[in-house]
Amino acid sequence: MSETSLPELGNDGCILEGIVTTLNADRSVNISPMGPIVDPQLCQLILRPFKTSTTYKNLKRTGQGIFHVTDDVQLFAQAALGTPDPMPTLIPSESVEGLTIDGMVLADSCRWYAFEVSSLDDRDERTHIVAKTVSQARNRDFLGFNRAKHAVIETAILATRLHLLPEDQVRQDLQHLATQVAKTASKNEQQAFDFLCQHIERTLSELAVTKSEPENLP
Ligand SMILES: Cc1cc2nc3c(=O)[nH]c(=O)nc-3n(C[C@H](O)[C@H](O)[C@H](O)COP(=O)(O)O)c2cc1C
Repeated sequence: MSETSLPELGNDGCILEGIVTTLNADRSVNISPMGPIVDPQLCQLILRPFKTSTTYKNLKRTGQGIFHVTDDVQLFAQAALGTPDPMPTLIPSESVEGLTIDGMVLADSCRWYAFEVSSLDDRDERTHIVAKTVSQARNRDFLGFNRAKHAVIETAILATRLHLLPEDQVRQDLQHLATQVAKTASKNEQQAFDFLCQHIERTLSELAVTKSEPENLP
């Protein structure tokens, strides 16, 4: 893989689910799960945030961000739905040796990759942002494959797409994912899954009410 050619999905590129931190206009941090297309060395990232996302707005304004590889699925679950509570420990870039961009590092991540945007195409609702890794570091080992962790990631993605999917499909998928969590989770994955399920139930009820409301009433 050359450093200049872009990773291609299904060829030398795959989607890697991670967490992107960017800086808001007031310099507070935004933490969001994102799945960029990456090459095996993560020299380049092709990010595809929707125009509605804060990540897109911050990347457009600052041209910088930090992509984190982590096995912390509680953070994935919480950040997918809003601001994590409690906030994870963050390290400002000026306190991180070798970090050349302005940003915040997730202290407990396994690895991080600071990137600069090299091109941004926002003609479509789902944008296409090419970024180049400018510095990186390794903090700790990735735990390894665990089916419950993967199930939580799938559930978090499901939870962000409820307005796009039929309720039957969501319930069917959730049942399958619940089995994997029940069989293989530790307390952390179970908590993350339960948190997402509560959100999904709440949102499905709200969507059902909206659909059942008659239109054009005064
Ligand atoms: C594993 C995972 C990957 C995701 N990848 C993307 C993505 O590539 N693009 C996107 O717009 N949203 C993606 N999402 C959904 C966003 O994380 C979610 O919409 C989030 O609320 C956006 O946060 P922000 O507005 O703070 O940027 C992903 C969610 C998960 C759980």
